[in-house]
Amino acid sequence: MTNMDLIEKLEREKNLTDGEFVRIIEGLSERESQALFARARAVREREYGKDVYIRGLIEFSNICRNDCYYCGIRKSNANLERYRLTPEEIVSCAREGYSLGFRTFVLQSGEDAWFTESRLADIIRQIKKEFPDCAITLSVGERTREEYEAWFEAGADRYLLRHETADESHYRYLHPETMSLAHRKECLYTLREIGYQVGAGFMVGSPGQTVDNLVSDIRFLQDLKPHMIGIGPFLTHPDTPFADRENGSFSRTLILLATLRLLFPGVLLPATTALGTIAPDGREQGLLAGANVVMPNLSPTGVRKKYELYANKICTGEESAQCKNCLNLRVGSVGYKLAVSRGDSRIR
Ligand code: 5AD
Ligand code: FES
Repeated sequence: MTNMDLIEKLEREKNLTDGEFVRIIEGLSERESQALFARARAVREREYGKDVYIRGLIEFSNICRNDCYYCGIRKSNANLERYRLTPEEIVSCAREGYSLGFRTFVLQSGEDAWFTESRLADIIRQIKKEFPDCAITLSVGERTREEYEAWFEAGADRYLLRHETADESHYRYLHPETMSLAHRKECLYTLREIGYQVGAGFMVGSPGQTVDNLVSDIRFLQDLKPHMIGIGPFLTHPDTPFADRENGSFSRTLILLATLRLLFPGVLLPATTALGTIAPDGREQGLLAGANVVMPNLSPTGVRKKYELYANKICTGEESAQCKNCLNLRVGSVGYKLAVSRGDSRIR
């Protein structure tokens, strides 16, 4: 089978053998990659038209009890000034976002124990009460089933928790002993069961990652069937144990985005900030490879630089309104348009 046949098979059967996935991930010529992106775009436009969904990201605390080796806000990073927004500040970010046309708010933080079940539930209820037509996405890490249930009851709609890698030994390579892949996966299945729209995902080119690991990521996603998949290139951060590792590959990230679009036609797939950091037109290229979501920052400008998961993160100096305008132009430049809507997944 030629590579072009493989691309066609991927679209038709929404699956490939392990060996065929490996060929897609590392064996395509430039022309073949472009063909893959074109098929991914066609599927994306069939499912979601030209709309790009926009999510307002509120990074409300960079305090984290975990110590992931790749992450700039890991607890052992003593060079970082820590911050925690007050509940009032969080709600006021949402208010500003609403007036700019955002209808989804993503509340993201490190694993910060100050935000107990009831504190976070209160914040969710406040936002939902003031903006009933908005969706709330949580991204606050591994918590108990009871907490996940309470937040769902309070009105949270979606939950992002990247699995990071579906391979046990690779997971060990990226995280300290205190964390486990089994628990991470369990959280994802629990969230799904409770009724959240769930997002998993991984970094492309994280230290120690092999092509076989990426195939495992695909197999895990096929089992979980998430509504959303977040992927972006690994980017080094100077104050982590992986400071001297190489960044992930931009072109490989695009190939994976397109592959995921063909595998999961209705999935919500962001062109991530990491993709926009590794290349100046990274997010635009991501949209052209099948992504259909962008997640600009709504955090107060005073704290943005402190939420540095990796070096040189973009948009840390701009106001929320500037980011929105900038994205409007960027999305328009590749023939798509920002939608003012909750942008729910087509996957049930
Ligand atoms: N490079 C790229 N992505 C990173 N993340 C954390 N650290 C890095 C890094 N150095 C990603 C993780 C996490 C998400 C919030 O950000 O996948 O789940
Ligand atoms: Fe933030 Fe362009 S998206 S400035």
